[in-house]
Amino acid sequence: MKIAIGCDHVGIEHKDLVIKHLQEKGIEIEDFGAHSSERTDYPQYGLAVAQAVQNQHADLGLLICGTGVGISLAANKVKGIRAVVCSDPYTAQLSKQHNNTNILAFGSRVVGIELAKMIIDSWLDAEFEGGRHQNRIDQIAAIEEV
Ligand code: RB5
Repeated sequence: MKIAIGCDHVGIEHKDLVIKHLQEKGIEIEDFGAHSSERTDYPQYGLAVAQAVQNQHADLGLLICGTGVGISLAANKVKGIRAVVCSDPYTAQLSKQHNNTNILAFGSRVVGIELAKMIIDSWLDAEFEGGRHQNRIDQIAAIEEV
């Protein structure tokens, strides 16, 4: 399992703690930045992580900004990306089981680090259920052609 991770300047502290948490679970990480708390713009990190997932360089992606919103909006512009913003473990779990999300985003200004770890673990432990849900994902993919 390899996870691509990215954040803007607001997500730096959470990113470092999340990387440590995932490495302790034996998960390989590729860190696409940011690498300092100097003010930066979130779209580039959303794009970099989304492209790593799209081209299968990574299995899944994690994104962090202040709310998780801006960086996930950027990631969702990349074809084949299904990024979800979560502030609770239940949504994270269902987003994988039903929506086969391939990127999880959260806001460092919204969730504390321990809740963030629970959200991530719920998402990673969940498996896509396929069946009727695949049909709906195919319909989403068709919208990418609009
Ligand atoms: C940066 O101030 C903030 O706008 C960004 O981290 C994120 O919350 C945007 O959605």
